[in-house]
Amino acid sequence: MKHRYKRRINTVKNLLVAFCGLDGSGKTTQLNLLADWLESNHEHIFKTRQPCDFYRQNDKVRAYLDDGIVTNMHGIALLAAADRQFHVSEVIEPNLQHGHVLCDRYLYSSIAFFKARGESVDYIKAINKDVPEPDLTVFIDISPEEALRRIALRDAGQKTLFEEQDTSVFVKVRDAFLENIPSSALIIDGTQSKTAIHNEITSEFEKRRSFV
Ligand SMILES: Nc1ncnc2c1ncn2[C@@H]1O[C@H](COP(=O)(O)OP(=O)(O)O)[C@@H](O)[C@H]1O
Ligand SMILES: [Mg+2]
Repeated sequence: MKHRYKRRINTVKNLLVAFCGLDGSGKTTQLNLLADWLESNHEHIFKTRQPCDFYRQNDKVRAYLDDGIVTNMHGIALLAAADRQFHVSEVIEPNLQHGHVLCDRYLYSSIAFFKARGESVDYIKAINKDVPEPDLTVFIDISPEEALRRIALRDAGQKTLFEEQDTSVFVKVRDAFLENIPSSALIIDGTQSKTAIHNEITSEFEKRRSFV
């Protein structure tokens, strides 16, 4: 009798993982822990972050972030969207060919912050409409008070960003995150230990990769 072999299709895919949350929530900490874990398992990874220097170093963006001076918030949102377009096509997509891409902040941070700055979510979504949804979006949730406490500890002595001087901005940002992250996002209680959070992320990573 002829043996019938079931052909195994190679479904291994590199994942795009985005880390979102308030400043101080532990995004960079957890991105680095996941990167180390993947590298120790001999996986290829690429670490990146949004926004890039095109946005960060723009004079109008700096005037707003440092001192709250802005004449046209739509324009600032468009700069963020242009920055993300180049980041996706020139950095994220090429690097996904070679390994997992771990991105510190993503579109959802933009939606949350620009909503808190008075922009409509529909407008931000429209100017970012073709940005790919990550394979795994991690939202690390902490209270605005805890965010401000950690930022003050971390950045002791440095100049505080304009929006980081006021808890009410962080309340709006957190609410906007929770309303706009993808329904498939992994929402983690960020007050747990770094190790407990890391373990939740690795276990979800393993699940997501077996589904793609
Ligand atoms: N789970 C945690 N519990 C307590 N402190 C934490 C935790 N995760 C991160 N931190 C600390 O909080 C600060 C902000 O963390 P960081 O990773 O820089 O946050 P983000 O990148 O989201 O701004 C750092 O000093 C970091 O060591
Ligand atoms: Mg960070």
